[in-house]
Amino acid sequence: MNSSFENTSYKPEDLLASIDKLAGNTVVIIGDVMLDEYIFGAVERISPEAPVPVVRIENEEYRLGGAGNVAKNITALGGRASLFGFLGGDGSGERMREMFREHGIEDGCIQECERPTTRKTRVIAQQQQIVRIDRESACVPSADGMNNLLHGVGEALEKCRVLIVSDYGKGLVSGPVMDRLRRIRESMPHELLIIVDPKPENYPAYRGVDLLTPNTKEAGVESTVRLDGGGGDSLSKDVFAAGQRLMGELESRELLITLGAKGMLLFRSPHQAVHIPTAARKVYDVTGAGDTVIAVLGLSLAAGLESLTGCLLANYAAGVVVGQIGATAVLPEHLREAVVSWPEINIRQYLIP
Ligand SMILES: Nc1ncnc2c1ncn2[C@@H]1O[C@H](COP(=O)(O)OP(=O)(O)OP(=O)(O)O)[C@@H](O)[C@H]1O
Ligand SMILES: [Mg+2]
Repeated sequence: MNSSFENTSYKPEDLLASIDKLAGNTVVIIGDVMLDEYIFGAVERISPEAPVPVVRIENEEYRLGGAGNVAKNITALGGRASLFGFLGGDGSGERMREMFREHGIEDGCIQECERPTTRKTRVIAQQQQIVRIDRESACVPSADGMNNLLHGVGEALEKCRVLIVSDYGKGLVSGPVMDRLRRIRESMPHELLIIVDPKPENYPAYRGVDLLTPNTKEAGVESTVRLDGGGGDSLSKDVFAAGQRLMGELESRELLITLGAKGMLLFRSPHQAVHIPTAARKVYDVTGAGDTVIAVLGLSLAAGLESLTGCLLANYAAGVVVGQIGATAVLPEHLREAVVSWPEINIRQYLIP
């Protein structure tokens, strides 16, 4: 496949003006909420019971994960986030509700007693992860619980133009749920955009949404590297082919493939894509960058900004989070500082036959 490109540019001062527009806008999020637990400790000996290290706990930390992390990224930038998902009827669920309050997240979550709260525990000693312990239930939420949740989503969307679906494959998102969300979109007197952070096994369910944000693996990209070298920021034909294929299959209006260290590629149609190379200056921890991307993009769209502007802001914000240790959310001043002090990024528009 041949693709031709031209360099495009943006004005940093326009991006700064766009950042000022983010605060105060509302985004509704539905998806899999989870609790990330970090146990930090020291290993001093091997257990006499089995050939495993004994970790003496020094410190414990809890962070919002999954759809909860998306909501946290929105409120950190001054946006309003209404969050809908399922919690278990356990202590982790209560803890999460407390964390929603701390972060100013509007809590539309439902506690289902039969399910545990999805919780991922990482045990870290001497800067190394020793083990991860997952508590989760893959069983489908009750019909009553789902009806109540979707009723709440419908009400919240009456005053909002953007719905983020944060699918971590924990049983909330399904074909029937996406059908209900599309019906809610049709019933609204105003425009409503549905944007999805997808799980590949649910692709058929997302047909006709406005935008999806898969990473390379989720988009089915084999390699982003060009076989002929190509140099610098150049992308493989595979990336363009995957984007065209997905857009054709899903009939989405737009598609954003996040490319890790290579930034992101926004397909504005199957024949036009814009590559935004990464803005990151240093990289410590890439976990949660995908949540930051969809959060900033969603908030930008809620502020009435163009999707390309939203992607540029999301790319700067992701560049900030990957440079922080631990999943801290980006504040408006961090985003402004990045736009002002990092070298301007070279975006390219591709026309794909
Ligand atoms: N190694 C990296 N160097 C620079 N920027 C990065 C790196 N990894 C991620 N990013 C930034 O974060 C964005 C999202 O990253 P990525 O494509 O890895 O998403 P993801 O796999 O969905 O992340 P997550 O781990 O949160 O699921 C990228 O578009 C880029 O802007
Ligand atoms: Mg992701």
